[in-house]
Formats: sequence, structure tokens, C-alpha cells
Amino acid sequence: MEVTPHEASPRVCVVGLGYIGLPTAAILAQRGYDVHGVDVRADVVDTINRGEIHIHEPGLPELVEDVVQAGKLQASTRPREADVFFICVPTPFLPDKSPDLSYVRAAALAIRPYVRPGNLIILESTSPPKTTEQTVVPLAVPQEYNVGTDVFVAYCPERVLPGRILIEAVENDRIVGGVTDACTTRIKRFYETFVSGEVLATTAIAAEITKLTENAFRDVNIAFANELSMLADHLGADALEIIKLANRHPRVNILKPGPGVGGHCISVDPWFLADAAPRQTALIQAARMVNDAKPTFVVHQILEQADHFEAPVIGCLGLAYKPDVDDFRESPSVDVVRHLQACNAGEVLVCDPYADEASFDDLHLTSLDDILQRSDVLVLLTEHKLFRDLEISDLEGRCLVDTTGGWHALRRAVQPSFS
Ligand SMILES: NC(=O)c1ccc[n+]([C@@H]2O[C@H](COP(=O)([O-])OP(=O)(O)OC[C@H]3O[C@@H](n4cnc5c(N)ncnc54)[C@H](O)[C@@H]3O)[C@@H](O)[C@H]2O)c1
Repeated sequence: MEVTPHEASPRVCVVGLGYIGLPTAAILAQRGYDVHGVDVRADVVDTINRGEIHIHEPGLPELVEDVVQAGKLQASTRPREADVFFICVPTPFLPDKSPDLSYVRAAALAIRPYVRPGNLIILESTSPPKTTEQTVVPLAVPQEYNVGTDVFVAYCPERVLPGRILIEAVENDRIVGGVTDACTTRIKRFYETFVSGEVLATTAIAAEITKLTENAFRDVNIAFANELSMLADHLGADALEIIKLANRHPRVNILKPGPGVGGHCISVDPWFLADAAPRQTALIQAARMVNDAKPTFVVHQILEQADHFEAPVIGCLGLAYKPDVDDFRESPSVDVVRHLQACNAGEVLVCDPYADEASFDDLHLTSLDDILQRSDVLVLLTEHKLFRDLEISDLEGRCLVDTTGGWHALRRAVQPSFS
């Protein structure tokens, strides 16, 4: 069966209702598909069935409320029969940095009893090379069905930016990598029913490697900026000034350094390439090492400033892995704060407008006002708007550690001298 928007309410089952699955489910429901969302977390299912959401994403609360009220999206903890299945579950790494495919395996097995001839199965989770063919096909497709003639399977990566997911999930170009040409053709046609960007056809393995390559490319480029920031600090120079000057070269575009690299994409996905081809990924692995070492470097910078005080109070601004999101996964800002606390270097105060007491077991959060009043050392870890908007008068008289460059223009004006 081919799914086109002209058919009577084709049914879509989306497994995993997080940052990727829930917007995808809501967009498809808005396009007229009958969407059944599945999540193992009963609290997530209940929240969505009330027409509410459990994550922070602009525009999504209104859209989910609309489609739930219209009866086009409902959620449960179990899959059901559908024309199209999406797998949007997490793909983290294990402590040894090898990929953890347990969620993909569980999702594939969960849909298997409901898969029928004519169905499309789409893996959107960022996955190591060969996952679609070697994990999804054997676990999700019942043995009596042939892939490419009975059931159609493809890997279709997501490349959305949190904060713009509803726009980018529709407008970005997409890649459809089928297990066979027939899989690619069918699933490409399905994406074209709701994506306005170009839908590019390829193979499953090329699509898998492409997604990982995009994030490894970002990681390598950020590592270059982070290495430069450490090198400049060692030589007593201003890295941001050097980057600004170097970027005046018509073919140079150095990114901004930061406290490290976080989130569950850029800091994780390169490891999937390293795991798949350990001897062919020296640069990718080196970039991971550089970025993973950056939080320790930042801690040393902070301790140097704290040393100027007998009983220093260190105010840390930001915990999320990037500005203006509520995502703390693999966040280098969190690493820095935990590391500082373990050092017993003084009193460590922490604030993030997107975090509350429930976000962390081990971190006590305080208000920005409290931090501004009490801190000897102020550390900009995540450049949330709230912190970008601080003025010279808020920072005056404090030692500043600016890991992102957000206070670059202010720093020289307010930094006290201890020489
Ligand atoms: N968040 C992003 O910006 C982004 C961008 C591109 C790609 N991705 C990839 O998309 C995938 C999903 O990421 P996310 O950010 O949506 O993760 P998430 O953690 O926000 O959501 C995943 C959801 O899946 C649920 N889940 C786990 N196992 C399940 C199972 N067996 N059955 C049903 N539900 C299950 C979890 O409870 C959770 O609600 C990952 O592979 C990620 O790397 C994410």
C-alpha cells in the first residue's frame, strides 16, 4: 500500500515521543495522518493525551494541543497497527563509547507484531552504520515478509535544530536511505507528502554515515576552535581576537570556542564512526579528545581566579549544553560545575533559567540575583539570553571567566587586576 495524503487518513505509529518523535508525530497529525504515538514512559503518554507536552520547544505546545483535541494524535505505551512506523528512540553510547542500540532493538521488536504487508518502517534515530539492515530489518520485519516487496524499510536521519524543530523538520532537505531501491522510492514519496525541502534518495548505509559525518564535521571544527583557545591562553593571547582576525581571510571560518561540546548528538555521534572504523578515524577521535578535555581546562581557569580569594564564592551561569534550550545531556557546563564542587575550591553557586530542583539530584540551584550579589568569580558557561543581557554594572568588581565569548566586549572593562 502506498501512502499519499489523498488516502483516507493513513495511520502513522511513532515510537519514542521525545524531541524528535513528538514534533514528527504532531506535524504528521497536522497534515491529516492519524497518528498513534508510543512511549515507554507512562507520564509522557499521559501528558500528551491531555494535550500537553513534557519538553521545551517553541510552537509545539499549541500544535500538540490542537492535534490531540482534533483526535489526530493520541499516545499509549504500546504500538498498534499502522501504515507507517517511525522509530525515534534514543541512541546513546555505553561507558566505553560504543553505541547503545538497546532502545532501537526494543522499539523494533515492539512494532514487529503489528507490521503488515505494504507497511513502511523508518528509522530516524541517529544510528551507527548498518543498523537499519542489521538491527531494524531482522527485529522489526516478520520473517514471512520480504523487504523491498512486502515491507519497505529506510533510514532517514533528522537534522533539526532544537528551538526550530517545527520549521526545520518540514523545511530542511531530507535524506532517505532505503534498504533496497524500492524501499527508497516508497519512503521518499511518503516524506514528500509533508516535507517542503528536497528529499534526497540514497542507500541506508550512505544515509547512516552521512548523518554521523555531519556531526563529526561540526565536532572537528569546534575542536579546532577549542584547541586554539587553549593554545592562545597558554601563550597569553586573546583567542577571540585571533579568530576574528583570521576569519577576515576570505577562505577561513573558525568557529567559536566554548566550555566543551555537549548534547546527545555532536558529542556522541562521532564515536559511532570511531567504533565502526577505529583505524580510519584518527582525526575524529582526536577532536573528541580535545573537546572532552575542555571542561577540565575551564575548571583550571576558574581555580586560578578563585585563588585570589580566601573563601571564594564562584557563581556559575548556565547548565544547558547550549544557549536557550532546556537540554542538559552531556553538557560540559554541568561537567565544569560538578568538577568544581568536587575540588572544594570554595562555595559554588549555580543558576540556569531552564533548570529546576528536579533537573539534578546533586546540584543546588540558586537565583541569578543571589549569584550576582554574592560571587567573587563569575563564570559564563552557557550563553542563555538572560546572561547575554547582563550589563557592565552587574559584572563590575568580579573576576570573570567567559567560556563562550559572550562577555568579550565587557570583560576588559570590568576585570579587576590582581597583579
Ligand atoms: N534532539 C535532537 O535535536 C536530535 C536531532 C537529530 C537526531 N536526533 C536523534 O533522534 C533520536 C531521538 O532523540 P530525542 O532527542 O528525541 O530523544 P529523547 O530522549 O528526547 O526522546 C526519546 C523518547 O523515546 C522514549 N523511548 C525509549 N525507548 C523506547 C521504546 N523502546 N519504546 C518507546 N519509546 C521509547 C523515551 O522515553 C523518550 O521519551 C536519537 O537517536 C537522537 O540522536 C536528535
